[in-house]
Amino acid sequence: MQIPYLNILLRDMEERDIDDEIRWNTAETDWALWDAPWETLEDLKNFDPEKHRAEELEWLAKPKPDHRLSLELEANGVHIGSVSSYCLDENLDWKALKSEDDRKSQRWAVGIEICDSAYWSNGWGTCALTAYIRYHLSAGYTDLYTQTWSGNTRMIRLAEKLGFRECRRLPGVRQVRDGTYDALTFRLDRAAFARHRERLENGSLELCVPQTVADMSFRREMMEDPDTMAYNAGWAVSYPGYHPDTGCIDFPESAWEADFARLTRQGPGQFYAYLREKSTGTLIGEVSFHPGEGPWAELGVVLHAPYKGRGYGRAALELLARRAFEGQDLPALRNTFEPARAAALAIHKAVGFREVGRDTMDRFGKPQELLVLELTREEYWKRRKDRDN
Ligand SMILES: CC(C)(COP(=O)(O)OP(=O)(O)OC[C@H]1O[C@@H](n2cnc3c(N)ncnc32)[C@H](O)[C@@H]1OP(=O)(O)O)[C@@H](O)C(=O)NCCC(=O)NCCS
Repeated sequence: MQIPYLNILLRDMEERDIDDEIRWNTAETDWALWDAPWETLEDLKNFDPEKHRAEELEWLAKPKPDHRLSLELEANGVHIGSVSSYCLDENLDWKALKSEDDRKSQRWAVGIEICDSAYWSNGWGTCALTAYIRYHLSAGYTDLYTQTWSGNTRMIRLAEKLGFRECRRLPGVRQVRDGTYDALTFRLDRAAFARHRERLENGSLELCVPQTVADMSFRREMMEDPDTMAYNAGWAVSYPGYHPDTGCIDFPESAWEADFARLTRQGPGQFYAYLREKSTGTLIGEVSFHPGEGPWAELGVVLHAPYKGRGYGRAALELLARRAFEGQDLPALRNTFEPARAAALAIHKAVGFREVGRDTMDRFGKPQELLVLELTREEYWKRRKDRDN
């Protein structure tokens, strides 16, 4: 299993990770000063690398549960640590999960260890734990907690930023490096988490209008990539360069100048921009709207295939809605697509769109039903005010 989210990757453990774990338990052990040090530092004293390797190899050979209770973290291709979860009882203490327990209805505590300290305080923990919580929530594991101690400022700040609220404090029960600290448990406020995600995901992307004809090269990269254009395959349309089998559209350099002029022409109900990752400057897709056949603009969002599934679709739609209603004061935005596109439907609904009609169009020689979704200016501003309050 691999879960890419913004600039982090959550993935299943692999054999090559065992050497990192051994290094983190023998040589690079700073993380253990913060992660439950009252027990972790004891564990380090008894750590046996070869026993650990044998246990991990045995664990790797076993089938994994559908819902993963631990995943490794990769930042820019570097293995930096892991996330994990465990169950809590009614007193919010650790409990063993029994095979007959209904997993989704349990109280789940999520935890994180970034063992490579070079990656602390740079936002990696925020991305990683957000991704792991999002994974739990989307699987129906909704009663979420996290636990730490009152001296772990980074973890407390991280928990609060994500929308966790303190729900249990046991004063003075943790002794760490000659100090006495409280044991803390936080419970996730899901509405606050949704607000956090919105800030994180929208804040990581920006719109950039192509500035020169040469900037059309990224548009060609997308239009000629079958994975990116699969959504566009099979429609009963005919225009030069359209390949109905893949959805790709030829976009030779000779066509760039006219397309650049058409796309970047400013006017009411008219907008086109690339989506750019702020942290890396990488172009990851395009958004647009153009006048519809009624008092609305028709929108389009296309993510370049390598950037799908990372939460960017929703961010792109939020940015486009802001542009339409705050930048241009349009009456409404509409989009039309097949009901089976579950991810597209979910992000439109998350941004406040609702179904206003159905349509049909031939696809691969058969009638294809389409949903028509709309967000009005009034709905946009109501949602914006509710969110800001
Ligand atoms: C705790 C941990 C997961 C946090 O991840 P991270 O990548 O360092 O955290 P982030 O950078 O995403 O966020 C940390 C926040 O704490 C803030 N912070 C860092 N040091 C701080 C300090 N001394 N005082 C106040 N705030 C501080 C950061 O500014 C940031 O908040 P911001 O985004 O509002 O600016 C990571 O540091 C880690 O794994 N540490 C070692 C193991 C551990 O403690 N695990 C948790 C066990 S409960």
